[in-house]
Amino acid sequence: MRLFARRNLRLGDERAETFADITVKGDITYMKKIEAVIQPFKLEEVKEALKAIGIDGMTITEVRGHGRQKGHKEVYRGQEYNVDLLPKVKVELVVTDARAVESINALSAAARTGKIGDGKIFVYDVAEAIRIRNDDRGESAL
Ligand SMILES: Nc1ncnc2c1ncn2[C@@H]1O[C@H](COP(=O)(O)OP(=O)(O)OP(=O)(O)O)[C@@H](O)[C@H]1O
Ligand SMILES: [Mg+2]
Repeated sequence: MRLFARRNLRLGDERAETFADITVKGDITYMKKIEAVIQPFKLEEVKEALKAIGIDGMTITEVRGHGRQKGHKEVYRGQEYNVDLLPKVKVELVVTDARAVESINALSAAARTGKIGDGKIFVYDVAEAIRIRNDDRGESAL
């Protein structure tokens, strides 16, 4: 997965040649944990989009949070909320490095309305995955 070394570059940006590959450190290509905080009403659409590209495992958590508007201007279920922490859903998936970009794209497209509060995606390197049942390791454990 090629991550952007410079700020404000997006997928499809014509300055793509300035990307730096920061995934490979030494000889290791890390799996990726994709952590997305999304609008709760988008969960089903996001699940369908991930299923459609063959993503199996995921963890979902009901969370509360705010972004840069600190919750104040956001509307939840048609109501303007005065509280500063709004209900969100956190979606976590660990995928192979090779599938990280398409997973992020699918998730992001499904979760987007174009309005504030759509959410955010954070991407982490994952050193190991272990299937407890049979001790599968690494990508075999996903
Ligand atoms: N920097 C952050 N660290 C951790 N969680 C965050 C961060 N920014 C946003 N979140 C989480 O994502 C949720 C949605 O954030 P939100 O989409 O409102 O971000 P934003 O930066 O305010 O963007 P926008 O201007 O599109 O609203 C928040 O409620 C919070 O749970
Ligand atoms: Mg916001």
